[in-house]
Amino acid sequence: MSVPATTTAQPLLTVDQLVVDYPGRGWRQPPVRVLKSISLDIHPGETLGLVGESGSGKTTLGRAILGLAPVTGGEIRLGGQRISNLGKRDRRALSRDVQVVFQDPYTSLNPAMTVGDILTEPLLVTGSSRADAQRRVRDLLDQVRLPADAGTRLAREFSGGQRQRIAIARALTRDPKLVVCDEPVSALDLSTQARVLDLFIEIQERTGVAYLFVTHDLSVVRHISHRVAVMYRGELVETGDAAAVTTAPDHPYTRRLLLAAPVPDPGRQAERRAARHRLAAEQAAVAG
Ligand SMILES: Nc1ncnc2c1ncn2[C@@H]1O[C@H](COP(=O)(O)OP(=O)(O)OP(=O)(O)O)[C@@H](O)[C@H]1O
Ligand SMILES: [Mg+2]
Repeated sequence: MSVPATTTAQPLLTVDQLVVDYPGRGWRQPPVRVLKSISLDIHPGETLGLVGESGSGKTTLGRAILGLAPVTGGEIRLGGQRISNLGKRDRRALSRDVQVVFQDPYTSLNPAMTVGDILTEPLLVTGSSRADAQRRVRDLLDQVRLPADAGTRLAREFSGGQRQRIAIARALTRDPKLVVCDEPVSALDLSTQARVLDLFIEIQERTGVAYLFVTHDLSVVRHISHRVAVMYRGELVETGDAAAVTTAPDHPYTRRLLLAAPVPDPGRQAERRAARHRLAAEQAAVAG
């Protein structure tokens, strides 16, 4: 995938030496530092893939951007304006520009609401007329390739892949500039994954929306990203062009992550397993 022409322009999102601490559990426990001075940019129309092992802090970074995790240090800017540590009102106003698609389409949508109500709600609370909102719903359903009559049906009547399309449509209702996508295809089977990924790409090409795309799946991240950032224990260890990072990574941790990615061929798998063990031994030797 090509890098968008806008990469030289001002970044859309800047994460600047971001630190996130969670309070320690229990009495007098010190806070836990989950993100340690993270810095990255996302440009308009760009997809930044975010990979890293479980617990490395990917979701926390996405949540900090959404104003849902405590920002202890550093700041986050959107179009040059600080968006971290905002009051409730300013934060709500931001929901137009920054949206989210979660992993689990079963818990992220109210199953007892019609798809039409799910999609019109954000428009009606911000003052759209019902007729405008309904027009927008038809347009959104078309964008995510759901039939026009889907609007009258309940969310629970849809399959996982279809529900994820509804969640994507909901994220798009007010033309956001950035969508934080946290493992949005991980709960789907492989062929559905591919179709939903293509939908993300198609929507980006049409609307110019940028994505922070969190996943632990390297083949997914390679397919969808312009650039990839690699997290390890609360730090970014590598950021670069998607093809380069996913095929010839600089950092030993990324190399190990790459070797851990499943490959179908058992011979190659054994080879990779051996290489992984060699690398781990080397790293242990370096770490002393
Ligand atoms: N609300 C919270 N309070 C305390 N600690 C938290 C909280 N949320 C996350 N953590 C801790 O922060 C660390 C990073 O978690 P996070 O969910 O960001 O990881 P992740 O990279 O998204 O992992 P996964 O791939 O499993 O989703 C973990 O050690 C987790 O236990
Ligand atoms: Mg996560």
